[in-house]
Amino acid sequence: MTYIGIIGGSGLYQLMDSPRSIDVDTPFGRPSSSIDIGTINGVEVAFIARHGKKHSIPPHRVNYRANIWALNSVGVKRIIGINAVGSLKEEMRPGDVVIPDQFIDFTKRRDSTFYDGPSVYHISTADPFCPDVNSALASQARAMGKRVHDSGTYVVIEGPRFSTRAESKMFRQFGDIIGMTLVPEVVLADEMAMCYSVLATVTDYDVWSEKPVDTSEVLRVMKENEDVVREVVRETVPRISGERKCNCSSRLENAKA
Ligand code: ADE
Repeated sequence: MTYIGIIGGSGLYQLMDSPRSIDVDTPFGRPSSSIDIGTINGVEVAFIARHGKKHSIPPHRVNYRANIWALNSVGVKRIIGINAVGSLKEEMRPGDVVIPDQFIDFTKRRDSTFYDGPSVYHISTADPFCPDVNSALASQARAMGKRVHDSGTYVVIEGPRFSTRAESKMFRQFGDIIGMTLVPEVVLADEMAMCYSVLATVTDYDVWSEKPVDTSEVLRVMKENEDVVREVVRETVPRISGERKCNCSSRLENAKA
């Protein structure tokens, strides 16, 4: 059985049955939170709160390497990342679910690799997400009555500020949704040959649409989406817990320089 990891926000604490917390240390320091280990429909799941249990870690300060290392060290092979994102396209409306299949990285100052030397690896990120977990998430969200976009390009910015109007108009030419946490999380999971997919919910139209992004509005829409996100994850987990048939586990083949 494949062990599943979830990286998400504080609203997802009640995700698992009979959770217990373990503290994990890593060569890169402490993860954002203890790891909560429990079950969902009988499947073992490990949960990390990306921004800490009290939401005290901003996106640019998350220890992404420690989080991915910690999940890998307890045996996780497949990760679902939960994300709140802005929309860069009219048709991706607040409340919609997007399962991205590409990203464009505009982050600036993050530790984005486990391969800092002396071993040198160049992994392919041509297709950075797990196709099987992506399709399970999309079909589950659709079955629950959500408006779902099965693909999309996620523009990742450094944050913690939102974009200027000029940046937002530029990002519209590049992608469909925008957020602050996908990179390096996905890249590090790929470097560990884990499967990684994102369940993104749209909280706002980014500032290209005239109105500046308002954090209290983002938080309000996130809260509205919490129950659906929790249910989509709970129902998807048993569907992706069998033996992996994707190619994610072979990402390191031919990658060593
Ligand atoms: N997270 C949620 N909405 C966002 C936006 N408009 N830009 C960046 N990150 C976001």
